[in-house]
Amino acid sequence: MTALSQDTKNILGLQLPTDPRWVNLAGMSLQDILTDHAYCEQKAATSCISLIQGFADKTQLVEALAPIVTEEWGHFRLVLHELKKRGLTLGKQRKDAYVNKLLQFVQKGGHANGRFLDQLLMMTLIEARSCERFKRLSEGLDDAYMRTFYRRFMESEAGHYTLFIELAETYIDKEQVRHRWKQWLAYEAEVMQSNEVRGDRIH
Ligand SMILES: [Fe+2]
Ligand SMILES: [Fe+2]
Repeated sequence: MTALSQDTKNILGLQLPTDPRWVNLAGMSLQDILTDHAYCEQKAATSCISLIQGFADKTQLVEALAPIVTEEWGHFRLVLHELKKRGLTLGKQRKDAYVNKLLQFVQKGGHANGRFLDQLLMMTLIEARSCERFKRLSEGLDDAYMRTFYRRFMESEAGHYTLFIELAETYIDKEQVRHRWKQWLAYEAEVMQSNEVRGDRIH
């Protein structure tokens, strides 16, 4: 976990750091952030289950992702608990512009391996950006309890980011992974730039 003390750009390879205004906006709408966060964790668990279903023949992937499902669901429950403590309920899921835009970059046709790689790299990127956002919250929120709360998530998602890219390298040529990862990083920076900065969303 030593990498976390370095510059975010170096750690995660993300091309665009989060707009510094975001953490202040998020701090002002914690209820919305918690709801959005809960759904991020639910989607992370669901995506891992889908990968297990879709690539059941890939034993290493199945074994690596099975415990991540439990972990992401545990995260969902932690966030749900925070909502409950505040007398709040989960509420409805909101449109996820970030993930929807990332999905557009996943290859639709072509070689099955290319689509598989894109699915793993999209997961890597979401984990990386989530980790960066949780880092911002863990450093920038006024509420000390919530800073600690988000630090835990930051550490966990950093482990996931690493796992997904390692899984890609387990099944696909490292050069190909690196080449496509650079394209994903560039695309994600465009997505970040085109999305408005809003405090009611994790991404
Ligand atoms: Fe998570
Ligand atoms: Fe995660």
